[in-house]
Amino acid sequence: RLQPVVLSGGSGTRLWPLSREHFPKQLLPLVGSRTMLQNTVTRLNDGFFKFPLLSPLVVCNEEHRFLVAEQMRQIEVIPRQLILEPFGRNTAPALTLAAFSALEAGEDCILLVMPADHIIADIPAFQAAVQTGYQLAQNNHVVTFGIVPTRAETGYGYIEMGQPLPIMAMDSASIPKAFRIKAFVEKPDQETAQNYLQSANHLWNSGMFMLRASIWIKEIAAHASEIERACHQAITEGSQDGDFFRIKHAAFETCPSNSIDYAVMEKLTTEKENHPSVVVSLDAGWSDVGAWPSLLEASPRDQDGNMARGDVYLENSRNTLLLAEHRMVAGIGLKDLMVIETSDAVLVVHKEHAQHVKNVVSQLKEAG
Ligand code: GDD
Ligand code: MG
Repeated sequence: RLQPVVLSGGSGTRLWPLSREHFPKQLLPLVGSRTMLQNTVTRLNDGFFKFPLLSPLVVCNEEHRFLVAEQMRQIEVIPRQLILEPFGRNTAPALTLAAFSALEAGEDCILLVMPADHIIADIPAFQAAVQTGYQLAQNNHVVTFGIVPTRAETGYGYIEMGQPLPIMAMDSASIPKAFRIKAFVEKPDQETAQNYLQSANHLWNSGMFMLRASIWIKEIAAHASEIERACHQAITEGSQDGDFFRIKHAAFETCPSNSIDYAVMEKLTTEKENHPSVVVSLDAGWSDVGAWPSLLEASPRDQDGNMARGDVYLENSRNTLLLAEHRMVAGIGLKDLMVIETSDAVLVVHKEHAQHVKNVVSQLKEAG
């Protein structure tokens, strides 16, 4: 069976001031009427899958438990388990907790790891890729989903494609392609990213993964045994508390912080020739809404490329994002600007500097 695992632990600092520590971006309706977390969960529904689908395992921060539970209730989803982390230790521990939880329930199911903060426009194309990924994961592959890169982004992982894999034909019109992975490089520097972009044999790692629970445990134990140990103890000594599963704090405290990409994917692909990792191509209007410009790109825009929401007046402007939550905002003659107005903070940033918004958040944190 397929076990969706939703990772909802990030804080989305580059989308400040809408995204806050207490209310991170995945819990906001950034595009459309549902929140990104809700879209992540419903994206799999109504798929014509040839396998049974379990209800999701959601891993989130303790602090957000009521928001998450309420958002699940709104879409009439009862999570199989809502696992609470007392603090974030990045994605490798979060996935390890979910894998142990799935195995404890008595089945070595196939996990579909989904970050809660992605936009995917073409749902049928996404579901076709998941169907292909399922076949491969059943054959004990570690499946990633790759996106054709459009810029030399340094915040992503890059996958070098190797030999193509034979994929069984499906009913779906477009059959996603799959390849062995030659190399996986997480967050390269600018020059390397530029080379990858030009090489035409690299894909972006989407951040979604598909693999058997036992295979993840085997790999994390091989590459980061302290994470495996701490998470195992955190789950076996954890306890159900109403709708929530509370992991053992003391055990999780000893868990190192690392991502799936650094802890396992990079190492897995370099160590031996015959490693199990593969990539399925995903052409489904994917965006991770990392920063304001990608939200603009993923949103419906007017003919000048603007997107405005709230009480706004916009004239003679191009490629501008204007969000007014609280007061009226007027913009005239703007180009490539992102203006975000909230009750207690206003951000004005040029598109090219949008990655630096996280500096505001660190500065605010330092200042207390
Ligand atoms: N539960 C939980 N706990 N979730 C977490 C934690 C945590 O400690 N840390 C991060 N997450 C969630 C985030 O909310 C996000 O949905 C997802 O895991 C990925 O974390 P990011 O911190 O956003 O990773 P990234 O963007 O730097 O890099 C990843 O995604 C890129 C594509 O968006 C990597 O997989 C890259 O290789 C990839 O290209
Ligand atoms: Mg991200």
